[in-house]
Amino acid sequence: MKGKVKPLLTQGKLPRHIIVIMDGNGRWAKRKGLDRISGHKEGMKSVKSLIKASRQLGIKAVTLYAFSAQNWKRPQIEVEALMQLLKEYLVKEGNRLVEREIKLNAIGRLWELPSDVYEVLSKTIEKTKSCKEMTLTLALSYGGREELIDAVKRIISQGISPEDLNEGNFSQFLYTSDLPEPDLLIRTSGEIRLSNFLLWQLAYTEIYVTKTLWPDFRKRHLIRALLNYQNRERRFGLTSDQIIRREIS
Ligand code: FPP
Repeated sequence: MKGKVKPLLTQGKLPRHIIVIMDGNGRWAKRKGLDRISGHKEGMKSVKSLIKASRQLGIKAVTLYAFSAQNWKRPQIEVEALMQLLKEYLVKEGNRLVEREIKLNAIGRLWELPSDVYEVLSKTIEKTKSCKEMTLTLALSYGGREELIDAVKRIISQGISPEDLNEGNFSQFLYTSDLPEPDLLIRTSGEIRLSNFLLWQLAYTEIYVTKTLWPDFRKRHLIRALLNYQNRERRFGLTSDQIIRREIS
C-alpha cells in the first residue's frame, strides 16, 4: 500500500482545505478504563500526525475544531486540561511549524481564552506569519452561530445597507475571510452532525464520517478519507454534464 498511495492520490484532485471535527477522545479513554483527560492527551498525538501527513501530502489548509464555544460548560478540570494541552502544543511545536513552513491561524472568540493561552497563541501566529506551504487553523472558543452573530454585528456597526449585502461580502465578515472554502469535512467517532462548526462555510463541503475514534486516527485514515473524497463528484448545484464541460474548458 505504502508506495502506491501517493501516486494514487495525486492522480485525482486533492482537497485544498480539510476541516476536522476531532471526536471520540472521551469514549477512547473510557474503553481503556482511563480518565477523559488521558483521551485528550492521546488525541494530541493524532493532531500532530494529521498535521504532518497533511503537509506531506500537499494539503494547503487544515482547520481543526479544537475547542467549541460550548466546551466551556465541561467540568472545569477538563477545560483547564484542554487549555494546558493547547498551550503545551503551541510552546513545543512552534518551531516545528516554522520548519515545515506552516502558518498558524486561529478562529473563534479568541478573547475568551485565558490570557496566557491567548499570549502564546498570538506569539506563534506572529512567528509563523510568513510561512507559505500550509495554513493550520485552530477553532478555539468557536461556534458557528456565534460566528454568524459576530459577523452581523460587524455589518451593522459598519453601517452596511441591506441592498449592498451579498454572499461574497458577507463571507468577508466571517472569521474565515482569509481561508479557501472547505472542500472536505472529516468527523471521527461515527456521529453524523455538524456540532455548530462552520455553518456558513460548509454549504458545499463533502462530509466524511469515520467510526475511528480521534485518538486512533492516523495517516492511513486520512488517506482513506482523501481517496473517498476523490471518488465523489462535486456538482455545486449544477448537472454532471455541466461539470464535465467546465473541467474540459
Ligand atoms: C472531542 O472529544 C474532542 C474535544 C472536545 C477536544 C479535542 C481537542 C484536542 C485533541 C486537543 C486540541 C489541541 C490542539 C492543539 C489542536 P470528546 O471529549 O467530545 O469525546 P467523546 O464524545 O467521546 O466524549
